[in-house]
Amino acid sequence: MSTAGGRNEAPTINTRFTELVGIKYPIVQTGMGWVSGPALTSATANAGGLGILASATMTYEELEVAIAKTKKLTDKPFGVNIRADGSDAPERIDLLIREGVKVASFALAPKKELIAKLKDNGVVVIPSIGAAKHAVKVASWGADAVIVQGGEGGGHTGPVATTLLLPSVLDALGDDGIPVVAAGGFFDGRGLVAALAYGAEGVAMGTRFLLTSDSSVPDSVKEEYLKRDLFNGTVVSRKVDGMPHRVLRTELVDKLEDGSTIGGTVAAVGNANRFKKMTGMKWSTMLKDGRTMRKSGERTWQQVIMAGNTPMLLKAGLVEGNTEAGVLASGQVVGMIDDLPSCDELIQQIMTQAHERLAKLKSL
Ligand SMILES: Cc1cc2nc3c(=O)[nH]c(=O)nc-3n(C[C@H](O)[C@H](O)[C@H](O)COP(=O)(O)O)c2cc1C
Repeated sequence: MSTAGGRNEAPTINTRFTELVGIKYPIVQTGMGWVSGPALTSATANAGGLGILASATMTYEELEVAIAKTKKLTDKPFGVNIRADGSDAPERIDLLIREGVKVASFALAPKKELIAKLKDNGVVVIPSIGAAKHAVKVASWGADAVIVQGGEGGGHTGPVATTLLLPSVLDALGDDGIPVVAAGGFFDGRGLVAALAYGAEGVAMGTRFLLTSDSSVPDSVKEEYLKRDLFNGTVVSRKVDGMPHRVLRTELVDKLEDGSTIGGTVAAVGNANRFKKMTGMKWSTMLKDGRTMRKSGERTWQQVIMAGNTPMLLKAGLVEGNTEAGVLASGQVVGMIDDLPSCDELIQQIMTQAHERLAKLKSL
């Protein structure tokens, strides 16, 4: 234990990832739409992890304000998650560069030129990926690290569990590959040690950070999450937006799973329009997304429209606390969580437990 600010702090575990982004502990709080704002991001940064602001659900102006607020609340490095296909992605990238933001995180692969521009200006580029071939592609384009999210993870997710996806990505990148951060299902020190044992250089967590006292999600909504168990707590639904989306099992989700409602589609069109105006997404981008979805075969036009609607459904749940009309993205890990620590308490608990596990492993 080292003493900092008059208290004992868990020792760190240094990896290439902690060095790359200049943080103390190998723990990332991911950019969750409507959830990862300045308070959560700065609390994570001040606790020694990497906090990431979610900008896909912010207007450009809201992102400007959020970056300024976060900088007021912490002098530590933090990141911003950007939709690489947003019409104003280049302006957002210029903003990150101007503001000296340390990390740019992407849900979809950013273009090669955008990666080069960010890197030339000293911004660390960390795309999130869901398949080994995507990790290899972004690495060849110059990405500095990747976050790999397995199927247990909350929000849009893939079919392969972290325990298999992670080693497949590490194998594909090879021994000298860029640092890999594991996501999907992590919540404690055992998971961190397991990820490091696989060869990852840190863990990234969404649901666990949503369920902290520092997250802005309404208390009543956090209570809904805490009630869920491991077996039936979440469901991967394609009915929300046509893509596999891991969410809390609620009455609304069960209804969506049960059938189609014309009324729901009409409301979805209105919401999609509001979201488009708010975030600067072009109809052409939304329609292109829609056509790609249709081409992949399994989606109806209703689902395509619902795709534009998803951010508003998430907002109703995560910001307005309307658990009946909203959709609540969540990882399966919600079934393992029953408390609301601060980010600092959480990170200290994880690091302390990780060191305990490592000591036990050494004594075997
Ligand atoms: C409420 C919620 C919102 C999310 N929003 C986003 C998002 O806007 N962009 C993104 O790249 N990932 C998003 N995700 C996925 C997380 O960033 C992360 O990859 C995932 O939560 C990791 O799995 P875990 O929940 O098991 O920790 C979201 C996840 C949750 C739970």
